[in-house]
Amino acid sequence: KRVILVGPPGCGKGTQSPAIKDEYCLCHLATGDMLRAAVKNQTPLGRKAKEAMDNGQLVSDDLVVGIIDEAIKRPSCSKGFILDGFPRTVVQAQKLDAMLDKQGVKVDKVLNFEVPDELLVERVTGRWIHPASGRSYHTKFAPPKVPGKDDITSEPLIQRKDDNPETLKSRLQAFHQQTTPVIDYYLKKKVVSTIHAEKVQGEVTAEIKKSLRS
Ligand code: AP5
Ligand code: ZN
Repeated sequence: KRVILVGPPGCGKGTQSPAIKDEYCLCHLATGDMLRAAVKNQTPLGRKAKEAMDNGQLVSDDLVVGIIDEAIKRPSCSKGFILDGFPRTVVQAQKLDAMLDKQGVKVDKVLNFEVPDELLVERVTGRWIHPASGRSYHTKFAPPKVPGKDDITSEPLIQRKDDNPETLKSRLQAFHQQTTPVIDYYLKKKVVSTIHAEKVQGEVTAEIKKSLRS
């Protein structure tokens, strides 16, 4: 399967990805995670992306399209993939279609994670992540066993630089202005399922699994 997760910052894309990945043996391609790794390693890509990311704006289409173009050609992604956080503009969606056309495949499902904006502040400001694995926790909704430490490695958890109320405003604005047209783009192709992602984590997982089976 080739599945796209779309939704506002903090809606649960990263949290739900492992469950989908395991059930269908798909590869999980999260442009935000890849960009954060590039920034941390100070690669040329990271240097170009940093400012926009720190300001809660989208990085240029060319940069992210380049990352995805390279990633979906990997043999490990030949059975399918979950795209988490891509495409986020109509241009990115069109470029993705062109890449998939070349491979003779198409997008099977777009899961549209809906959460009201007012719930996202708490989700984002309470998030703590384990940078090496991408695992995320939440001080209230998904606390780690030992505060501030990853459950599996016991390594320290950190907060994302863009997870503050001010930068969240810009990220939400970017979502509403630039990414909601992507949902319309896929609605026309009749591949969109709405996920009620404001529910508790387990219920959201169940809804996703049901929608992928249909
Ligand atoms: P990215 O990393 O994609 O950030 P985002 O879209 O803002 O999404 P988040 O990662 O914040 O949210 P999520 O949905 O994964 O939430 P999570 O599951 O962690 O992008 C970052 C930046 O990179 C962008 O701003 C941009 O600059 C750049 N970028 C990336 N892709 C790009 C692209 N294609 N084009 C251009 N620029 C791009 O959950 C959040 C918290 O809530 C966690 O603490 C979790 O434990 C908790 N939680 C999850 N589910 C529930 C639940 N059901 N109930 C209660 N709490 C929950
Ligand atoms: Zn994420």
